[in-house]
Amino acid sequence: MKTLPQRIILIGFMGSGKSSVGRILADRLGYELVDTDALLEERAGAPIPRIFREQGEPAFRALESEVLASVADRTRSVIATGGGAPAHPANREFFTREDAVFHLRVSLKAARERTGENADRPLLAQDPETVRGLYQGRQSVYEKLGQSVDTDGRTPDAVADEIMRLLRNPRRNRPPGENA
Ligand code: S3P
Repeated sequence: MKTLPQRIILIGFMGSGKSSVGRILADRLGYELVDTDALLEERAGAPIPRIFREQGEPAFRALESEVLASVADRTRSVIATGGGAPAHPANREFFTREDAVFHLRVSLKAARERTGENADRPLLAQDPETVRGLYQGRQSVYEKLGQSVDTDGRTPDAVADEIMRLLRNPRRNRPPGENA
């Protein structure tokens, strides 16, 4: 296998499977799984819905940026990030370094099916048109920052297999910052 990147970053909409695929990849590679939402909740001492409710989304985003900065130099890590993190310019540098960034592509329909009613994801609790707008607005950001891997109709194992293949045979070698 080619030299592996120190950090493998997973991005994608809510319900794209970042945490479950991340767990499988980390196990296969002997890497640590870093789940930025979980770290954020630990730091804040509160679950995400409560942070949104009591402090608002801007406070959540500020915490999210702090957490990303705190893991930017981790080694041998698979980093599963929150669905909104790549869409916020303050985090752009994190996603445009030499790290391998994979976009887990999911249709809105499959994302809704996987996430169900979702008390845990305040942004999905909004009306369907708002969620559709959020989804559509983010797709180009995800496509630009990461290599896209389809997830609809595939198990997390199958998605992890494809990422392992791409890590062995990268389709392209992006110079850092090329897509910033
Ligand atoms: C968010 C996605 C969530 C979490 C928060 C906001 C978003 O993470 O960070 O609820 O803006 O898309 P997941 O993508 O892991 O669900």
